[in-house]
Amino acid sequence: MLILGIESSCDETAASVSRDGREILSNVVLSQVDMHAIYGGVVPEIASRSHVEGIHGVVSRALEDAGITVADLDAIAVTYAPGLIGALLVGVNFAKGLAFSAGKPLVPVHHIRGHISANYIAFPELQPPFTCLVVSGGHSLIADVRTYTEMTILGSTRDDAAGEAFDKAARVLGLPYPGGAQMDRLAADGDPRAYSLPRAKVEGAPWDFSFSGLKTAVLNTANRAAQKGETLDRAGLAASFCRAVAEELAPRAIEAACQSGHGILAAAGGVAANSLLRRALEEGCAKNGLQLFIPPVSLCGDNGAMIACQGYYEYLAGTRAGTDLNAYPTLGIDAPSRC
Ligand code: KG4
Ligand code: ZN
Repeated sequence: MLILGIESSCDETAASVSRDGREILSNVVLSQVDMHAIYGGVVPEIASRSHVEGIHGVVSRALEDAGITVADLDAIAVTYAPGLIGALLVGVNFAKGLAFSAGKPLVPVHHIRGHISANYIAFPELQPPFTCLVVSGGHSLIADVRTYTEMTILGSTRDDAAGEAFDKAARVLGLPYPGGAQMDRLAADGDPRAYSLPRAKVEGAPWDFSFSGLKTAVLNTANRAAQKGETLDRAGLAASFCRAVAEELAPRAIEAACQSGHGILAAAGGVAANSLLRRALEEGCAKNGLQLFIPPVSLCGDNGAMIACQGYYEYLAGTRAGTDLNAYPTLGIDAPSRC
């Protein structure tokens, strides 16, 4: 079964063709990062306009790279939530038009479910049930993935998403947007114990996390050094921040995975590319006898392949939409699939 996946929820216009979910025939990602970098973050209006300009070319290229035409497709899957509303609407409307004109089924896909699906592409042997730590620019949560299309949230952030915290801390250190990968690189030369940064605990919610205090601590550390005329150990602060985020996320995800009894922990989303977090998850899983799955860095960020893959499983579960499909800026991963 050939599924086209279309993704436009934030600042990447992406499309991909998958065969039977797990085999990726093409994967085209057009990043807008350079356009937003000068503003220090994603400008929603610029994102929407760029998606409009890029989407036709990206989808055409994905079909061409896969060596197929629209007529060969069995279904068209598209990210419909959550994300920037204007950006999402570009993908949704393009997919609706294409599906309607070609007479193909339209399959709405939840973006975060897509991130989880990146693991199915990278690891053919992985099957639900498992626990998944999803850490992206807009979301941070621990999910109990019971089946390909049924999942519950076990814990989530109370304020900033992990990626958001990375981007804000990176800005304090003078690194360009998006700062997560740059923080990771800078941290490689630093001592993760150089600065003492706070860890948060959410009363009565052991698997929830919070990053706002950590973010403020980075800002205060930089300001204090500037006021005293001291040289800031930037690499040390980056490394200490990465360590704090890893220590916030990894133990909670591991404990949730142990208690679930599935014996498997997966990770997903842009922040799952972080070296220190990957190492903390590896060590923690090895210690607790858990099997760990983390997609390669190339599949952690936004892409169309993960939407094509999740689209396949949604299709099998009977998820369909008509031309009345709308986009939603927020929607839980546990919301029932649209039929
Ligand atoms: O999943 P994603 O591509 O987009 C969203 O759905 O949000 O995640 C983007 C986030 C950004 O905040 C970016 O700074 C962060 O992932 N990120 C990283 C790394 N690579 C990307 N954060 C920490 N370490 C990295 N290596
Ligand atoms: Zn994403």
